[in-house]
Amino acid sequence: MVENHVASEMLATARQAALAAGQVIREQVDQPRMVEEKGLRDLVTETDRIAQKAALEVITARFRDHIILAEEDSSNHSADDAGRWTIPPGLVWMVDPLDGTTNFTTGLPFSCVSIGVASDGVPVAGAIYDPYRNELFTAMRGHGATLNGTALEPLAPIPLRRSVVSLDWARAPHIRHRALNTVAALAPHSQTVRALGSAALAQAYVACGRVQLYFNYGLQPWDVAAGALLITEVGGALQNPEGRLWVLGDSALLAGHPDLLQEAITFVRSDTI
Ligand code: IPD
Ligand code: CA
Ligand code: CA
Repeated sequence: MVENHVASEMLATARQAALAAGQVIREQVDQPRMVEEKGLRDLVTETDRIAQKAALEVITARFRDHIILAEEDSSNHSADDAGRWTIPPGLVWMVDPLDGTTNFTTGLPFSCVSIGVASDGVPVAGAIYDPYRNELFTAMRGHGATLNGTALEPLAPIPLRRSVVSLDWARAPHIRHRALNTVAALAPHSQTVRALGSAALAQAYVACGRVQLYFNYGLQPWDVAAGALLITEVGGALQNPEGRLWVLGDSALLAGHPDLLQEAITFVRSDTI
């Protein structure tokens, strides 16, 4: 496992890189934008690319030799047919320069920058920055999580009937159907259900208690490396829909307080698998 001073330095760099990319998003938010479709329901703008460049400049200036999986660098994408990623050993950065591109293209102000670092596949440091609200979430493994420098409290055990459930839609039709089944299973038993449009920011919202449960069945590592760490650092649990522990590389995730997850997963398992 990585030494504390290295993890601290990576966290400082992740924070700086997230702020640099967020600055690009903020500057460009009101500008006209060219939107390209790089895949089914998968949009990209010039802002995604410029923000990524800004983030990578910060990371490579400090950690020249580390592997970086960055969303807009198509050369390094390597999920298997089931959507599962093999995370390379060693220190690996996962960079999503603009998580919530669809929201960004329509002017819906809910997007973020997400930067996580894993050591041998285990998230060790991460930063999520919301340039609209100027909120910076950070976490370091074993050292808790913060929002704008203030430590986040441990998650409270809230029952499903009082919980806000949040999800995001995958792009592939069969995965969307699976998510629909989960909504159908959980909605009758929960306070309400939201689909916010930025996977990483929704996970940060679980960590700070703004929503209680999050699920997404179509994640890529840069959507989740930082958010997963935030959630575990406040005592949350991460599982896949079969009830197994989630590991970085898995595309399907349910996350929240362990008691809530246990309650929710019984509905998910019986109604949707
Ligand atoms: C997407 C968003 C969306 C989620 C997808 C992500 P992008 O990321 O987080 O809410 O449903 O799973 O891929 O393409 O906007 O970076
Ligand atoms: Ca993105
Ligand atoms: Ca994303």
